[in-house]
Amino acid sequence: MRWWDIDRVLELEKDLFPEDAWSRGMFWSELAHARGAEATRRYLVAQEETGRIVGYAGLASSGEQGDVQTIAVAREHQGTGLGGRLLTELLRAATAFECHEVLLECRVDNLSAQKLYERYGFEPIGFRRGYYQPGNVDALVMRLITHRTTEEKDHG
Ligand SMILES: CC(C)(COP(=O)(O)OP(=O)(O)OC[C@H]1O[C@@H](n2cnc3c(N)ncnc32)[C@H](O)[C@@H]1OP(=O)(O)O)[C@@H](O)C(=O)NCCC(=O)NCCS
Repeated sequence: MRWWDIDRVLELEKDLFPEDAWSRGMFWSELAHARGAEATRRYLVAQEETGRIVGYAGLASSGEQGDVQTIAVAREHQGTGLGGRLLTELLRAATAFECHEVLLECRVDNLSAQKLYERYGFEPIGFRRGYYQPGNVDALVMRLITHRTTEEKDHG
């Protein structure tokens, strides 16, 4: 994702996350950390052959932890495997950042997203009460261990 993609991304964002859409400033701020040797973010867009953006996703890394910041697929492309492809790319980025685990928050009522994450090995580890405002909706926190040390492996 580059800054010139933000207009179209915001269009999708407002449609897909009507209650808590990110602002233009939030995307600018994320992209500011996505380039150069010290980059801590990886943001992707998925495009049709025409160049039209129909999905996007982003990962943040801090130390050995990766966080799925966002993942979204245009309604007319959902259920075609695009979400899975975007997630695969984020996990590849997590490996490149040398993250040992990847975490994410997801609305407790967003079952289609949870199914996707479970398919990729994420497991629920807890809740954040009232994480999504307004509406006071809880977040389910999910985690994928991407790298185990030899000692951890020995102990199963
Ligand atoms: C969550 C989200 C990103 C998933 O994206 P997606 O592109 O629909 O995901 P996929 O297509 O990879 O998987 C969804 C379903 O399609 C199925 N599918 C995958 N490839 C397929 C194919 N080629 N043909 C038919 N079905 C397919 C999957 O098996 C899966 O089915 P299931 O969930 O019923 O088991 C998308 O629904 C979305 O953008 N939602 C709104 C925003 C959102 O909630 N984001 C997540 C915030 S935590």
